[in-house]
This record gives sequence, structure tokens and C-alpha cells, in this order.
Amino acid sequence: MGHPILRQAAAEVEPERIRTEAFQRLLQDMRDTVEDYDGAGLAAPQVRVPLRVVLADLEGGARILINPRLTFLTRDVVRSYEGCLSVPGLRGAVDRIARIRVEALDERGRPLDMELEDFDAIVVQHECDHLDGILYVERVVPGTLTFLEEYRRYGPPPGVMDDEGG
Ligand code: NI
Repeated sequence: MGHPILRQAAAEVEPERIRTEAFQRLLQDMRDTVEDYDGAGLAAPQVRVPLRVVLADLEGGARILINPRLTFLTRDVVRSYEGCLSVPGLRGAVDRIARIRVEALDERGRPLDMELEDFDAIVVQHECDHLDGILYVERVVPGTLTFLEEYRRYGPPPGVMDDEGG
């Protein structure tokens, strides 16, 4: 949580870089990291690379989103417990917008345009926050921050859905 890269705005990726070997290695490194830690997603700044790249494990499978742009499609929020590989050992409830549009480039540089709801929307908002230097702990609903160990022992308060974080 204290690394400066996690606290700065990440840079846009130049599309012509996407197909380079070095960039593809970064993507593979991110996939391996998410798999190792069983996370719901990961942003490049979390592996010390200050670029606008996220991996989000969505309902239809893991997706790479490069230079993602989010548009909120509702004012409705969904509350869920989040965690983060960069802030280990904690969980806290966060309210996120329930339905979003995501425009991005995929891992081969092709344009993507998707509408996401609920858990998928939560994951993408959490990961995209990382690109702006924002950690979920700054968005936690007061009174809900807990150690993971105690979250597992006592569970979340009623009415809050459970999820695992990236
Ligand atoms: Ni995170």
C-alpha cells in the first residue's frame, strides 16, 4: 500500500506497444499473478508497472482492458466486501455503481465496448481505481473495515454480499 506507483495516475498505453513481446510478457505476468493469488482482478500498477492496464476476472472469463474508460449508466449502487492484493489481510464494504459501460482495447489492441452489471461492474471499478492511484480502503463504508481473519470468523454484516477482491 505504501509503494509510490500505487499512488500515482498510470500512463496511457500507446496502441502500437500492445503487440510487442515486452508488453505481452507483462500481460502474462499479470495473468500468472492473479492465478497465484486467486484474485478477482489486477491492475498493472500492482506489479509496479505504471500503465493503464487491468485484468478483470469477469463472468465470461478473464479480460484484459487497456486504457479503459468507464461511463456510469445508473446512480444505483451495489455494496460488497472488497479486498486487494496490495492491501493484504483486510476486507471492507464499498458502494460501487451497479451498471457501467467500459470502452477499452483488448490484449491484441482491438476495441472493446461492454456493459457490465453488479459483480463484474464492481471488479472493473476497483481495478480502474488503481489506475488513478486510488485504493479501495479510501472508499470503505465507515464501520465495515475488518481483518480478513475476523471477516472469515464472524462474516460480513447481514445484507452485504460477499466477494473476493483483487
Ligand atoms: Ni486492488
